[in-house]
Amino acid sequence: MNQGLGILKSKMEGIKDERERFKQVYELLKTELLQDSAFEYDHVSCQWLHKMLDYNVPGGKLNRGLSVIESCRLLSDGKQLDEDELFRAAVLGWCIQWLVGCVLVFDDVLDNSHTRRGKPCWYRLPKVGMIALNDGILLWNHINRILRKHFRDQPYYVDLLDLFNEVEYQTACGEMIDLITTLEGEKDLLKYTPDLQRRISKFKTAYGTFYLPFACALLASGKKLDDYIDVKDTLLEMGIYFQAQDDYLDCYGDPETVGKIGSDIADHKCSWLVVKALELSNDEQKKLLRDNYGKPDPENVASVKSLYIDLDLQGVFAEYEKNVYEELKVRLEAFPSKSVQTVLKSYLVKIYKRRK
Ligand code: IPE
Ligand code: IPE
Ligand code: MN
Ligand code: MN
Repeated sequence: MNQGLGILKSKMEGIKDERERFKQVYELLKTELLQDSAFEYDHVSCQWLHKMLDYNVPGGKLNRGLSVIESCRLLSDGKQLDEDELFRAAVLGWCIQWLVGCVLVFDDVLDNSHTRRGKPCWYRLPKVGMIALNDGILLWNHINRILRKHFRDQPYYVDLLDLFNEVEYQTACGEMIDLITTLEGEKDLLKYTPDLQRRISKFKTAYGTFYLPFACALLASGKKLDDYIDVKDTLLEMGIYFQAQDDYLDCYGDPETVGKIGSDIADHKCSWLVVKALELSNDEQKKLLRDNYGKPDPENVASVKSLYIDLDLQGVFAEYEKNVYEELKVRLEAFPSKSVQTVLKSYLVKIYKRRK
């Protein structure tokens, strides 16, 4: 056992709270990355990396990371996980959180966002600016370094690398479709269909937010991904619902609670709300949308928001949310494996009616 790991394990014994224990693992992974020979005797770059990691990785809800640990427990069929198994689950959880951090650093530049997790976006810090792009690449590469350090000897190492590669690819494809769709939408807003909105959500969000934690837990539990292929669609459906909530919160969430200021209307995004609005609008309302959607002027944004009120989009969303919840519940209860049912249920109850 390496020295850092030994210290970590003795520290963790005294900590009961799962989130706090999880955060201790982050501290170890960070220390390992800071010890790289690239920064030897280089206090300045070490500090930069330290600050960049603390700013972008451990914040947020940590849903995805924590769910790897919980899923590993639930998939172990009642057997208590030993210290090493718990540690590996936490490391995989952090690899996902590293990916989230990386994607959000890039996403905020691409979306021209202002705040994230209650602070200015990383690239908005005066000293950072476009250095954020290289920081994003570093965060991305860290995933492989962490995996190599902690999983190289595991029989499922190659499967893990392959899994992360696939999901990173799917997420980047989703971001691409999200971004170029706004260009198409500027030409013709009617191109924003439910199918397109679902496809964007599936790729940019669902793979990384629901499939990845579950798949990590499967591999860490010694299971084969191919044996659980039928669970994937349900997980992706949950992810599409999660992104619909994110789209809803962009307009109706409390920025203090959500930690970010919404900009989907000004950014011409193919959001759940605008797609629903188009579906429910008459010709005159469609014209209002065409004239005002995707313009940064607060007056245009206000016109769109007032149309959303006329269409009672909040009520329509509440109804959608109730229905998806019921449908997903029925779907997950149909899985023969009780542990799969419990894992999926634990994901669903955590996000149902979320306000952040
Ligand atoms: C934000 O995800 C990006 C999306 C995929 C919608 P979260 O809402 O989970 O963000 P954090 O990690 O808690 O900040
Ligand atoms: C991006 O969706 C999801 C990913 C970062 C992959 P959004 O652009 O809606 O996410 P937020 O609202 O900025 O968190
Ligand atoms: Mn964004
Ligand atoms: Mn959003």
